[in-house]
Amino acid sequence: EKIERFRLTLLTWYDENKRDLPWRKTSNPYYVWVSEIMLQQTQVDTVIPYYNRFIATLPTISDLAEASEETLLKLWEGLGYYSRVRNMKVAAIQIQNDFDGIFPKNHKDVLTLKGIGPYTAGAVTSIAFNQAHPAVDGNVMRVLSRLFEIDLDISKASTRKVFEQIISHLIDPVRPGDFNQALMDLGATICTPKNYSPELSPVKEFNASYINETWRKYPVKKKK
Ligand code: ADE
Repeated sequence: EKIERFRLTLLTWYDENKRDLPWRKTSNPYYVWVSEIMLQQTQVDTVIPYYNRFIATLPTISDLAEASEETLLKLWEGLGYYSRVRNMKVAAIQIQNDFDGIFPKNHKDVLTLKGIGPYTAGAVTSIAFNQAHPAVDGNVMRVLSRLFEIDLDISKASTRKVFEQIISHLIDPVRPGDFNQALMDLGATICTPKNYSPELSPVKEFNASYINETWRKYPVKKKK
């Protein structure tokens, strides 16, 4: 079936081309969470040293829950959006109080944590726990827009839900975390905002906008 060929093609490309990133060597949900929060507004290359230092300094959730403002500020200095790490500390205390200090596995529980929205909850549960939840950010919306010629405005907040629905059907049930990260890598390296060359894509045979030569139209993004 076509959907299964798509999964296999994407995951084979990922296995052969995935970026060697420190948070891909762990399935500790705390470490995956730290990486995903840092990656929200910051480039991968910038995040790597911050991530390594953060988990070396605060190796457990309880270390984060007890960390001083000064320690957190130092660990985050230069990353910007300092509220991200303040929220992480609040969430670490929530985990101590509500989940016996263990990062929750249940997707609904994860969503109760301060600073964790649908994207981060999907990323952490799929990557750390291999649960089939979508993790849709701007890169993934760009990839899907082009694959399926989706005319929805990706700058509109309501659009993300539609993409989550699509991923729910598409996601590999055996390797959901790798599937989500394969879409992220595709968006970062081939299916880029600028200088996009669809003929270079490992999934071009599935790419409706490539086949129909409409790819220059996607993603649809209304100017602010
Ligand atoms: N951007 C956000 N999350 C990522 C991940 N897990 N791997 C690579 N890039 C990402």
